[in-house]
Amino acid sequence: MSELDREAIRAMRRSYGEVGLDSLPSDPFVAFSDWLKQAHENSFIVEANAMVLSTLDAGEQISTRAVLLKDISEGGFTFFTNYSSRKAQAIELNSQVTLLFPWFAMERQVSISGFAEKISESESAEYFATRPWSSQIGAWASAQSAPLSSREELEQRFAGASEKWPEGSKVPMPPHWGGYRVTPISIEFWQGRYSRLHDRLRYERANTEAKWEISRYYP
Ligand SMILES: Cc1cc2nc3c(=O)[nH]c(=O)nc-3n(C[C@H](O)[C@H](O)[C@H](O)COP(=O)(O)O)c2cc1C
Repeated sequence: MSELDREAIRAMRRSYGEVGLDSLPSDPFVAFSDWLKQAHENSFIVEANAMVLSTLDAGEQISTRAVLLKDISEGGFTFFTNYSSRKAQAIELNSQVTLLFPWFAMERQVSISGFAEKISESESAEYFATRPWSSQIGAWASAQSAPLSSREELEQRFAGASEKWPEGSKVPMPPHWGGYRVTPISIEFWQGRYSRLHDRLRYERANTEAKWEISRYYP
């Protein structure tokens, strides 16, 4: 396969649609759930619930990665992870995070900024029990974000955990695993429009208890 040259990369452009974003419901969670449903039903979008999570660590270094949205409840967006991971360590020091849903096939993105907090152990356990056996064993096998000397080491850890809890048995939730709920203070809906005159409508509130205000921004 030949490499893409600079001209080819520069030429990558699409004009965006005529569908505008005139107004949104007063509750941003209603608006978000509607867009998530549409993204999920769109056959060009894989993993509509994948979101890019950015965190700030102790050295003021930003790090970013995809995680899966698994719940929208109690006024927040929940994902699950390893509580010893790099992202978890960052959140413990600075709970401010951003989430981005990049639904390019629909010429849309939703960007969220808010505060992440651990959910209760019982809530995490309830979700953990619904995961496939192999994912449950994977959670025991992975010391997520720690250096790994070889692929074999990971496979061995998986095999060890599989022996302990064979398929069909009840796998307990690892103590280092659970969910975070992100309570937003800003949620922006972006819809691509013609001539790069995109629509941006942002819900903002001064704190997590305050009332939402909706404003339109230049694209
Ligand atoms: C589509 C997609 C979904 C992912 N979902 C999760 C997830 O829900 N939880 C998770 O811990 N990692 C998930 N990952 C892996 C993370 O992106 C990341 O590699 C991992 O969590 C380690 O991140 P950290 O070292 O920054 O903590 C996903 C990756 C992709 C590409």
